[in-house]
Amino acid sequence: MADTLTITDNRTGKTYEVPITDDTIKAIDLRKIKVADDDFGMMTYDPAFMNTASCRSAITFIDGDKGILEYRGYPIEQLAEKSTYLETAYLLIHGALPTKDELASWQHTITHHTILNENFRHLIDSFRYNAHPMGRLISSMAALGTFYPESKEIFDPECRMKQMHRIIAKIITIAAFNYRSTIGMPYAYPDNDLSYTGNFLNMMFKMTEQKYKPSPVLERALEVLFILHADHEQNCSTNAMRAVGSSHVDPYSAVAAAAAALYGPLHGGANEAVLQMLTEIGNVKNVPDFITRVKSGEGGRLMGFGHRVYKNYDPRAKIIKQVAYEVFEVTGKNPLLDIALELERIALEDDYFVKRKLYPNVDFYSGLIYQAMRFPTPMFTVLFAIPRVSGWLAQWQEMLEDSDQKIARPRQIYTGARTLDYVAMETR
Ligand code: CMC
Repeated sequence: MADTLTITDNRTGKTYEVPITDDTIKAIDLRKIKVADDDFGMMTYDPAFMNTASCRSAITFIDGDKGILEYRGYPIEQLAEKSTYLETAYLLIHGALPTKDELASWQHTITHHTILNENFRHLIDSFRYNAHPMGRLISSMAALGTFYPESKEIFDPECRMKQMHRIIAKIITIAAFNYRSTIGMPYAYPDNDLSYTGNFLNMMFKMTEQKYKPSPVLERALEVLFILHADHEQNCSTNAMRAVGSSHVDPYSAVAAAAAALYGPLHGGANEAVLQMLTEIGNVKNVPDFITRVKSGEGGRLMGFGHRVYKNYDPRAKIIKQVAYEVFEVTGKNPLLDIALELERIALEDDYFVKRKLYPNVDFYSGLIYQAMRFPTPMFTVLFAIPRVSGWLAQWQEMLEDSDQKIARPRQIYTGARTLDYVAMETR
């Protein structure tokens, strides 16, 4: 059996043989299909990349029909149970789990890069008091790159790794300082005795105590949430990271672009939108009416439901639901939980959602946990971005080392006018 595809062009009667690799044909191989010798050749039309693989990748595996997610081959369930966020970030970026020494050195390096240049405070102070945390994060990330002009040396592996350390380390400080600035609290500086998540909680919530002691349950819950959000193969923001990075810009600028893609409500902004939706529904008894409105198209979408790839329960949502109960043991139950549970119960039985294979996704329950932990709702997408930088960076590095990759530059099918004559203003 030949690994080829035979295509007959019925316009010309000509037949073409196209190689198949990994169940895929190369779109560029279709260019030889022409009606006339001076034709451009055939292209594929695939808005939103519904059926186009843009890269070969060994980082994250998803089987959307079976609800499977693996990082570098390790099931997400095992990582969520046994790993830490920093170990998972190492796995994504280096491709293998670290040895004890490698992990100790990685943790030490990240921890010792959390501090920001003091000038950075002026930038944070200059935002308006109610500036959205994602707008702050996007611009802060781009600005951070200006402190490290050497970051342009993207093909120097040592220099590249140093920027990755800095980005993973400093994003928690940027997020926390921006929050403190919003509420007029003095900045709490990093504490190198604490874990990555413990330190983030410290910078967020430290009051006047000499030493902040994070709740072990909340610290671990955040680790799990960060592990679950660390990568998700070629989603919208990762695609932005790769596309922008393909111009060989520095990683700070590419991360800022990826964060901007994440901000939208159809992507990482959904966790914030879920909380707004649950708050608007307000009471369990209003749930059936809300579902009816969603189905008729009047109530918007059921936020936190549906996924381009998962046509089954998102495995991350299952784990998050469990974490929610553990967190609520410490914080008290989030009153919106009952509304979320009722929405899920009805939606999973309702024909509209069943037919379209719409299940809760990662964002459905995460917001409830973040709210119970006292994170303000507009910060939820920042909590998605913090761990996702390790995935973005792993994908960016893989792209730079992939000899198949070039600057991302799609084609178009031009539908506009041609060769018009310029019309003078007075005759328009
Ligand atoms: N509520 C109601 N109907 C929905 C929903 C929803 N959440 N999601 C999809 N549908 C319907 C949609 O109207 C369409 O129906 P029809 O065939 O009658 O026109 C059908 O399901 C297919 O939807 P689609 O928009 O073609 O699917 P997509 O793969 O382009 O969109 C999605 C995926 C995640 C953007 C979408 O499901 C959605 O908007 N969900 C709500 C937002 C959300 O929770 N986003 C977070 C995604 S997970 C984390 C992340 O990636 O950031």
